[in-house]
Amino acid sequence: MNKVRAAITGVATCVPDDVLTNQDLEKMVDTNDEWILSRTGIETRHILKGEGKGVSYMAEKAVKELLEKTNTDPKEIELVIFATVTPDHIFPATANKISYNLGMSNAWGFDLEAACSGFLYSLTLASKMIETGTHKKVLVVGADKMSAIIDYQDRATCIIFGDGGGAVLLEPDEENGIIDSVLGADGIGVQFLHMKAGGSIKPPSIESVQAREHYVYQEGKTVFKFAVTNMADSCEKIMQRNNLGANDISYLLAHQANKRIIDATANRMGLDQNKVLYNIQRYGNTTNGTIPLLMGDFESKFKKGDNLILAAFGGGFTWGATYLKWAI
Ligand code: UT7
Repeated sequence: MNKVRAAITGVATCVPDDVLTNQDLEKMVDTNDEWILSRTGIETRHILKGEGKGVSYMAEKAVKELLEKTNTDPKEIELVIFATVTPDHIFPATANKISYNLGMSNAWGFDLEAACSGFLYSLTLASKMIETGTHKKVLVVGADKMSAIIDYQDRATCIIFGDGGGAVLLEPDEENGIIDSVLGADGIGVQFLHMKAGGSIKPPSIESVQAREHYVYQEGKTVFKFAVTNMADSCEKIMQRNNLGANDISYLLAHQANKRIIDATANRMGLDQNKVLYNIQRYGNTTNGTIPLLMGDFESKFKKGDNLILAAFGGGFTWGATYLKWAI
């Protein structure tokens, strides 16, 4: 009998309607379209507006569409893993809220926080739950409302991030599915990318709000260097240990943080440009949303059996690469 793998059997996404363009940002901070485009590849990002709408608003839309698309009764879902850095509340987990609101009453679930690598970490965990035979239908959701934690007075961060995300359904498959993951983490990254206040080390106070410490703090240049090295290294490693040459790979779905990081990774892998998928120009960096958004946008290009490499790098630092065979 073949080994049971976890295959992605459906994908659905959600991006909010409101669009924030480079030209809009020119009016908010000292920046310009040419700088943003040449340094990051970003033209627009989507922003979730409206009182009382948290990340669950987008996640639920994606999950609802996914359940309909795959003809899945919500009660069949056994586990929901929600990768996010912008949960509706610090506790309880937004995964539980999504399950409750959508009638997934037989599912257990939790939020997973691994910054921009959260979707890959979650996918890997979910695949193990299926491989052991204990679970048959697992949802992995990756979404962020980055606009909730971005300082729109800080030109170095506000130009990069946007809101959005998506969800995938994982089911057992004996032919295709998730084959291997290389995951890593290094706490040296904490100092270069974090939120200064709001956690237990510095609970919210009038002073912390006035000091604008509830926003993303990033030392971009340093994060950039670590991102290029670790994303490319993990892709190289996963290719080597699965005997994959550049010609064997159908597409690279890399975390969309900066076009230059994606290009450097693709170069190291020796990939032709037509195998590298981008939507950073439309959405910017949606943190946990980038990889499911790529999957959703380019799903029609994929054929059953295609070799996909997913790659990510994020705060922590965290990083990883996943090799899967497309199953739909
Ligand atoms: O999601 C996972 C984690 N995050 C990432 O992977 C992001 C990694 N980092 C980056 O993508 C890049 O570092 C940024 C896009 C954030 C910044 O690009 P950079 O090429 O590293 O720029 P820099 O920070 O080195 O700044 C270069 C110059 C500076 O001016 P001086 O000192 O050379 O005069 C900045 O002040 O560009 C200036 N600058 C800007 N100019 C116009 C910084 N931000 C802007 C801006 N518009 N928005």
